[in-house]
Amino acid sequence: MNNKAKTTNQYLKPFNTKRNEKGNLEISNCDLVELAEKYSTPLYVMDEVTLNNIIEEYKDAFKIYEKTRITYASKALMTSSIAKIFANASFGFDVVSIGEIYTLLNAGIDLKKVSFNGNNKSIEEMTFAIDNGIDHFSVDNFWELEKLNEIAKSKNIIQKIHLRITPGIECHTHDYIKTGQNDSKFGFDLSMTDDALDLILNKYKNLKLTGLHAHIGSQIFETQVYYDEVGVLLKEVKRIKDKFSIELNEINIGGGVGITYTKSDNPPSIYEIANLIIESVKFHCTKYNLQEPVLYIEPGRSLVCSAGFSLYTIGSTKDIKGIRKYVALDGGMADNPRPSMYQAKYEAEIANAKQGQNFEKVTLAGKFCESGDILVKDIELNNPQSGDILCVYDTGAYCYSMSSNYNSAQKPAMVLINNGKSDIIVKRQTLEQIVQNDVIIDRLK
Ligand SMILES: Cc1ncc(COP(=O)(O)O)c(C=O)c1O
Repeated sequence: MNNKAKTTNQYLKPFNTKRNEKGNLEISNCDLVELAEKYSTPLYVMDEVTLNNIIEEYKDAFKIYEKTRITYASKALMTSSIAKIFANASFGFDVVSIGEIYTLLNAGIDLKKVSFNGNNKSIEEMTFAIDNGIDHFSVDNFWELEKLNEIAKSKNIIQKIHLRITPGIECHTHDYIKTGQNDSKFGFDLSMTDDALDLILNKYKNLKLTGLHAHIGSQIFETQVYYDEVGVLLKEVKRIKDKFSIELNEINIGGGVGITYTKSDNPPSIYEIANLIIESVKFHCTKYNLQEPVLYIEPGRSLVCSAGFSLYTIGSTKDIKGIRKYVALDGGMADNPRPSMYQAKYEAEIANAKQGQNFEKVTLAGKFCESGDILVKDIELNNPQSGDILCVYDTGAYCYSMSSNYNSAQKPAMVLINNGKSDIIVKRQTLEQIVQNDVIIDRLK
């Protein structure tokens, strides 16, 4: 593969998106109007061809450094079938909850290539992870160090860990998803690592520290931050080596690679990022006289987002003359909370055929009872009418995984398409499931 080529995160639409002879949008040889009719809307769709392409790009870009371990940050999108696709590609996983671990086990995936992240793992979660053979924990704080050591001791095992540190790197991304700076709820500040090292080496004998972990943010468009992050991690490895006489031979640089949500987004290619990261690893290992470490990367969004899109049906419209025309969808913030949570932007288009072109600027409103439930503000659509099918691009990450039952909405189904085939990989929630955990106590009957 040509390493100058654009990579999937730089395209707005999945592979093979076009209008077919009927005039309908078609992706991977699947007519989107037919998908909407067959599975009803709202509907999440993942294109397996695009997904496989992204997987191959990542593998290809990082093959220049044999010691790379790609672990999919499953918080971006976790379902049993999606997990299977990554496991079949020999990827590991970054998990942050017992639920994600349970999903892996449900898919028949063992935890040998799994790291457990998070700033407040419960005792139940840590115990469950250990009992099921998790590879390592990325330990976030002193409390976790103590508890994890207790659990490992009670089971008479030595548990491998990394220490999550905050490298003090700021990226120009949304404040809520900026985690690498000093004032962060995640990880050990660099001024705390010596105390953590002291405890691990002298007191917590059931923990074995093999590496350092950091994550500097999400939807990152800069490349230099990764170069700098690797530098900070390796400088810390060198400092620890000098002070404590142990050489940590694993670093984890987290995820964060940006994708194209709108025409104005311009993320770097996976190759650019990979080349710079590896250049930094080599440069800093030479500079600090360190052996080349195992390099963990844990991308989430950039592995799944561009392969996903959502289908909705347009219902009511409201034209406030001279102000705004609202076009309402049969979904919204319950299936995609990102626009209302952090003003995320999306591109969309009408999927069904239209006679001629009559574009107008409208605002796509969700159906949920919040004024802030606006999916896309001020978008040009071709004559949007009630009954039209709308396709919103790049909803593969942080939509299903962040979805809710707000307004007692049933979570939509998810379909995996591949070259003309389509299969349900997550069923639409039933009304029975909406109330299945409700208990009507006797005195209310
Ligand atoms: C520790 C860690 N690793 C990886 C990721 C994945 O980030 P992204 O989906 O932006 O690649 C996140 C996201 O928040 C994270 O917190």
